[in-house]
Amino acid sequence: MTSKELRNLFLKFFEDKGHKIVKASPLVSTDSSVLFTTAGMQQFKPYYSGVLDPFKDIHPFLLTPLNSLNVCSIQKCLRTSDIDEVGDESHLTFFEMLGNFSFGGYFKKEAISYAWEFVKDYLQIDLSRIEITVFNGEKEIPKDEESYKIWLELGIPQEKIIFKGREDNFWGPTGKEGPCGPTSEIYVDGVEIWNLVFNEYFQYEDKKLEKLKTKGIDTGAGLERMLKAVQKEKIETIFETDLFKPLIEEIQKQTNLSYYSSPKPYRIIADHLKGIVFLIAEGIEPSNIDRGYVLRRLIRRAQRYANYLSLKDNWYESLVLKVIEMYKEFYPEIDQAPKIISVLNEELSKFQKLLKEGLKILKKEIEKLKTQEINDQVLANLVFKMYESFGFPIELTLEELKISFKTIDEELVKNKVQEFFKIHQEISKKGATKKFGGHGIDISKVEAGDEEEIIKTKLHSATHLLHQALIDVLGNEVKQMGSDINFERARFDFSYSGKITNEEIKKIEEIVNSKIKQALPVFFKEMSKEEALKINAKAFFKEKYPEIVKVYFMGQDENSAYSKEFCGGPHVKNTKEIGNFRIIKVESIGEGIKRIRAKIF
Ligand code: ALA
Repeated sequence: MTSKELRNLFLKFFEDKGHKIVKASPLVSTDSSVLFTTAGMQQFKPYYSGVLDPFKDIHPFLLTPLNSLNVCSIQKCLRTSDIDEVGDESHLTFFEMLGNFSFGGYFKKEAISYAWEFVKDYLQIDLSRIEITVFNGEKEIPKDEESYKIWLELGIPQEKIIFKGREDNFWGPTGKEGPCGPTSEIYVDGVEIWNLVFNEYFQYEDKKLEKLKTKGIDTGAGLERMLKAVQKEKIETIFETDLFKPLIEEIQKQTNLSYYSSPKPYRIIADHLKGIVFLIAEGIEPSNIDRGYVLRRLIRRAQRYANYLSLKDNWYESLVLKVIEMYKEFYPEIDQAPKIISVLNEELSKFQKLLKEGLKILKKEIEKLKTQEINDQVLANLVFKMYESFGFPIELTLEELKISFKTIDEELVKNKVQEFFKIHQEISKKGATKKFGGHGIDISKVEAGDEEEIIKTKLHSATHLLHQALIDVLGNEVKQMGSDINFERARFDFSYSGKITNEEIKKIEEIVNSKIKQALPVFFKEMSKEEALKINAKAFFKEKYPEIVKVYFMGQDENSAYSKEFCGGPHVKNTKEIGNFRIIKVESIGEGIKRIRAKIF
């Protein structure tokens, strides 16, 4: 069976059972508490909770009401929570989810019967390959005896039905809050292929559960896994289905390393490239924040594995075309090859430059280490520094270290690096936003959170340079009145009564950028408040400082430092880490008070 046949079979099956076919929502999620669409149900969240009425309210993409309590879809999804697992036999970042949904039209009996009829009669999967899981109950949520009975009545032997706890058999919500409920899952050859969610609850941000007024059904079957399960000729992995094979073959044309000797890079490249094509087609551009950051990460990761396979420079062009060819019939929006290739050209030339420069620095650092006694701590420190200061990929530093220090215990070093990230996060106190997860994902495992903290640190250091540059250009009337930094921008309020001209803004920007280029060391010293004031360190007048204060310097030494400021940190170690600085807005926010917003990129 081909993927096209399976898609059609699924939609036709549910259409015949009275479901309206609804097209996929964009990957850029409508659910603002998550970055991407990670499940088919997301576009239907308001129908479960009763916020939208399927017969009265206009659906956001269809621009008509759904006009049905029962719908089905094939949804493109992107999940970054499993990114490190991609390359094994079943994990993906980009995938499609087949789903049937009901908002009060039917419940467990029909949902289970439909799924079983499809698996048994349409996919013709033998019972010997099947296992079923059912929710075992936990705290206030009762054991799902009803589903258990339904499965027994459908002829599934008792020993094939396994009860599992909340960890495995309770789904949702996506994002901060939403519908959720116990699940029952169908496994084929030990791999979950279909998740049936019985939405009975609404979970609030504080984790409180409330019964939904109308019970709902939300199901999800991974197209790739289902397609693998249904092949007549037994295949080992999803990568042998028509959803991957053409890409794998395309990669094979460009390398001497065979897929069978090293499948992982092939799989990662194929998976990531799909996500890349779909994201760029939806207008996402690589950047250091949010969705753009995820895209950047996918691109860089794919490139690293392309380097590993020694693919040619423009390796991605034929692959982009192939992805488009494979998917455009079902997702016509991706038919934008020139744009996608041009975004990749630009991003990858930047990345290659970063790699080249980073590698030079790394080699020097390694030479230094060769003259010292090394241990896990020292090596981890270098890995972290390369990442934090230059955005140099962790895996690459590790690979270089392995070449130079043959006895290195990679696991130990990796664990230490993780610890550094944790400490770094704790220093900056505020945790990363929960945005990066799908549902119940441990954010501490997601590098993106660390990246946000790094950006904030850079912006913080940029603010110190800005403060001094403002005084240089506008004079001593400038006094800091407030400052606020998030990972998208820095905001700096200060006293100044005159008008600030465009020339002055340009000048200020130029000074900050020149100080960044000068690669000034950043360091701090603890000293008495009195001494700090004597050397003219800038203080924020609203703040009450203790007797002993920390002063941050940006410059070669204390005397010649360009910036001296009372501050608790954290900061970059060298101004060159900041990147490019740009003022994006200057406004007056009150009598004699101005506000500047600035970005780094
Ligand atoms: N929403 C459920 C899932 O994603 C079906 O697994």
